[in-house]
Amino acid sequence: MSTQPIQIQPLSQPVDIGDEIASFSPEVEAEIDRHLAKYPVKRSSILPLMFIVQRERGYLDPPGVAYLAKRLSLRITDIWEVATFYSMLHTKPVGKYHIQICRTLSCKIMGAGKITEHCSQKLGIKPGETTRDGRFTISEVECLGSCGTAPMFQINFDYHESLTPEKVDQILDALG
Ligand code: FES
Repeated sequence: MSTQPIQIQPLSQPVDIGDEIASFSPEVEAEIDRHLAKYPVKRSSILPLMFIVQRERGYLDPPGVAYLAKRLSLRITDIWEVATFYSMLHTKPVGKYHIQICRTLSCKIMGAGKITEHCSQKLGIKPGETTRDGRFTISEVECLGSCGTAPMFQINFDYHESLTPEKVDQILDALG
């Protein structure tokens, strides 16, 4: 029987992120320290730290990703794998209002396609795009756990359910 250790290969190739590393105010650093102190293993605080970096920089930009790798003693690839997995984490700038339209089964059956089309027509952008004034980004995402009230979308942290084109108009028109 072989006693060779199993070599685990990384799932993706290292990402070239540049040399710049983000810096933050003493208050933000203290907030980060508080999260790091909650976990016995540094990497367990990856998600809260990502949210802080995203909040401070608007999205997980290359210097922000480099900062996270340094602070968590991880490879850039480790950060990147998480950053590109969750739809609530952004590796590109998003608008002031990020409309995330669920496209999974229940929503699809209940008319998510019509909702996406309506949003696109109203705002003049396709999924994955941001309006020129930086106010709106449309994304299509997988199930947001609100299948019983399909079709639905999430705008920033708020859920909007049982959508119709008329309801979408009301919601978007009410945004400041
Ligand atoms: S399928 Fe849309 S919320 Fe679950």
